[in-house]
Amino acid sequence: MSSFAHIPVLLAEVLAALRPKPGGCYADGTLGLGGHAEAILAGSAPDGRLYGCDRDEMSLEAANRRLVNFAGRYELRQLNFAELADWVPLGSCDGVVLDLGMSSAQLDAAERGFSFQVEGPLDMRLDRRQALTAAELVNDASGDELAKIFWEWGGEREARRLARAIVEARRTGRLESTRQLAELIGRVAPRRGKRTHPATKVFQALRVAVIDEVGSLECGMVGALRTLKPGGRLAVITFNSLEDRIVKAFGRTRARDYTVTGEVDVPELRVPRTPEVRLITRKAVKPGAAELVENPRSRSAQLRVIEKI
Ligand SMILES: C[S@@+](CC[C@H](N)C(=O)[O-])C[C@H]1O[C@@H](n2cnc3c(N)ncnc32)[C@H](O)[C@@H]1O
Repeated sequence: MSSFAHIPVLLAEVLAALRPKPGGCYADGTLGLGGHAEAILAGSAPDGRLYGCDRDEMSLEAANRRLVNFAGRYELRQLNFAELADWVPLGSCDGVVLDLGMSSAQLDAAERGFSFQVEGPLDMRLDRRQALTAAELVNDASGDELAKIFWEWGGEREARRLARAIVEARRTGRLESTRQLAELIGRVAPRRGKRTHPATKVFQALRVAVIDEVGSLECGMVGALRTLKPGGRLAVITFNSLEDRIVKAFGRTRARDYTVTGEVDVPELRVPRTPEVRLITRKAVKPGAAELVENPRSRSAQLRVIEKI
């Protein structure tokens, strides 16, 4: 697929949430192939501005090519969106979008190692300057560490058994490729009759661990709120239940007019405070039937939107 054939997920819904307008200021923390950024710049013509970042150099180049018609109205940087507030002026934005995960170009690029469906090295880094790769985890982490990763970040029920099998397989040589790992998982934990490939959860878990997806998301949402003006909106698109739970909890906690003092929410012990945000979506927004037909990869997408008070 060429980068320009890329279809941004839940585009109409993101635009309806962020309501780009002339003179507005926006940030896209996950530029990818520039689809959302392009629509925001078009919607905020003639003078809206956009700060765009991505950890991946290849994505930045693709986005830059796509946005060429808007030159002078945007700034791009290779950056983790967890650091957005160190770059974008605080209180300056009318809208921020985070569209998590991988672009189709990244998933399809065998040499990136994100997909068990194509043969490639176990890499999974977004930023190639990072030292940690999936191969390093798979070959050097202890069985306990691997089991913890597979269970916590992938929800893999066979986490222990798979971790033991990997440690066993390492005795005869390193596991270097996506196919080697996917085949090993398929042999140890075949899922007869299930629609998803047996390696789906392990690959998700390794990716979350290699790119520190959860840590980035938590910091990224805190930073994004700081860059917003009052009334500015944050739209986050997730692709798995782990990420969606984090986004949902982030919004709910900050929309409350009280804080909880201990581990458990005891109504008598609540401390009143002014809420930081308003929930714009009470339930996650999912792609409609037409989008699912046009872009089957959107099937697990969920959008949540909050507004800074
Ligand atoms: C699903 S794609 C975004 C697609 C984009 N919205 C579009 O319309 O083309 C996700 C992008 O986010 C980037 N990404 C993931 N985690 C990131 C992070 N913590 N900081 C910056 N970029 C990140 C990935 O490199 C990828 O390019």
